[in-house]
Order: sequence, then structure tokens, then C-alpha cells
Amino acid sequence: MRKPTILVAREVFPEVLVKLQQHFEVTSNQDDTIFTPEQLREKLQGKAGVFTTGSERIDAALLAACPELKICANMAVGFNNFDVDAMTAKRVLGTNTPDVLTDTTADFGFALLLAAARRMAESEHFLRAGKWNRWTFDMFAGAEVHGSTLGILGMGRIGQGIAKRGHHGFGMKVVYHNRSRLDAATEAACGASWVSKAELLATSDHLVLVLPYSKEAHHIIGAAELAQMKPTATLVNIARGGIVDDAALAAALRNGTIAAAGLDVYEGEPKVHPDLLALSNVVLSPHIASATIPTRLAMANLAADNLIGYLVRGEPLTPLNPQVLAG
Ligand code: GLV
Repeated sequence: MRKPTILVAREVFPEVLVKLQQHFEVTSNQDDTIFTPEQLREKLQGKAGVFTTGSERIDAALLAACPELKICANMAVGFNNFDVDAMTAKRVLGTNTPDVLTDTTADFGFALLLAAARRMAESEHFLRAGKWNRWTFDMFAGAEVHGSTLGILGMGRIGQGIAKRGHHGFGMKVVYHNRSRLDAATEAACGASWVSKAELLATSDHLVLVLPYSKEAHHIIGAAELAQMKPTATLVNIARGGIVDDAALAAALRNGTIAAAGLDVYEGEPKVHPDLLALSNVVLSPHIASATIPTRLAMANLAADNLIGYLVRGEPLTPLNPQVLAG
């Protein structure tokens, strides 16, 4: 019997490609070309599955042009590149890669928090520029992390991982805001208390954003919200670009509305707002919160196993729209 055909839309670990080739006729992209929507549509002709990353948009127009497509397996926990409703309407399954990146991403959120609060990037640039010629009592004095108040907006798996690090590792008071409140046992394990969004903004010394992107979450942190934060506060975004109004954030960092920020994601990335690039009180990283080799390999394997699970056995591991499976 002919193997199903799939497209792997970006470069992947060679061993993951070999695994996929055992089950599928694979069109790969080890040159790592970023396909335009037209190229993606063309490459997907006749394909039953596609291995995507956040850079491939799967929407109604693409699905209408690719009637044989049955599954899009994203190598990411976030899936705002998928129009899940359009996929469900066309009975195309979507899958993502939850759990395998939780701790790695939470580690990185904490790294950005520490780097921004303790002014690590700014002071390193100063040193490398040969400007360090003496010790002074307040040189690069930053904000205290241990014992301070850690705020978390979005309290899913990664938010809980950050809360645990703050509570158990740094003796922080942890407050969070989320649409749904955690059960008491999970709150206790995280040492976290639910507060309103207004209280979260007003009381956090360090606020970490970990909520998924949605239309409702667009610019959930803008000028009005930044104005409610402490002038000494740190903001960290490891969620998605577009959750923060980057222009408003740059203005707030410039005007001292808040003290510092650590960002891994941006509106319109890989472009970064030029006003952010010009500021020294923001630590900028290129969307690498899950980037360790073991974690990226686990993500790639989970995406591949979703393709194999669904197209070979009819049983994906982490479906986003399981309604497609029923009937
Ligand atoms: C990365 O941003 C992911 O969603 O996995």
C-alpha cells in the first residue's frame, strides 16, 4: 500500500525526518525556506499531513485549496497560526506540543525576569563597551527578586511552573490572574493566590505573561495597563507577540512608567519594534524560551508522533479539535 504523503514545512532534526520517512512519503525542507502562503499551498497539494511550526499559517483559504489535508501538526504549544474553527469545519485535525516544553519555558521566563530585574544585559553591554573603570555603590542597582511579589497573567502549565520557581526557589509572594481559578490544591502547590487583573497590575513587582494568544488577549497589556503598574516593576512576555502593545511598552520603559522588561516574543516578529531596540532597560531574546536541544527534540518527536498516530492508527496524541475524531 502507498504510504500517505506529508510535508515537513521547516528544517527538523534528521532523526525525526528518518522516523517520519518510515511511515510517509515525505517532502522535506531541510534548506529551511520560509514558504509564502502561495508556496505553502502549492507544496501541500495532495498531502494528507503537514508538520508545521509557528511560521506557517493554516487558515480557511489554505484549507479550501488543499482538500486532501487531514492533519496539521504544530511543533509548538501555541497554535495561533492555526484557524482551529476553519480546520474543524473542514474536518482537519490540529495538534500541538504541550507538556514537553513546560519546565524549559518556565526556566527561561525566570531567566528573563532575573536578567531584566538585575539589569544583566545592560551591565554586560557597558562592560564590553570598555566603560567599566571603577566600582560605585549604586552601579546597575536593580530590583530585588527574592521575597518580592511575582504576578502571573495566565496560569496554565507554564504559569504554574513559573509560580513554583518563584515560590519555592525565591520565597516570592505569588499572585495570578486567569479566567478560571485553580483548585485549592494546585494553588497551594504553586503558593499562589488569585487576584483581579487590576490588583495583579498594581501589586506585582515582576509580572510574567504566559497566556495564549487570542483576539481577546490582543494588547491585553497596553498603555492603560502599564500605567497601573509600579514604576519599579518588571514585565516579562514569554507568551506571544500581540499580547503586549509593543509601542506602548517602549514608551512606558522610556518614560519610567515601569522599570524594565524582558521579552522573548514580539508583534510582527522576527521584526522588533525599533523603539524597543533603542532602549537599554529591556532584555530582548529571539523567541527561544523552549530552546534546549532535549526539549526541541521532544517537541519535534511529539509533532511527528501526532502525524504517525493519526494518519497510521487514527489516534493522535495531543489533538486540539478532537471533535474531528468523533464520527
Ligand atoms: C513557542 O512559542 C510555542 O508555542 O511552543
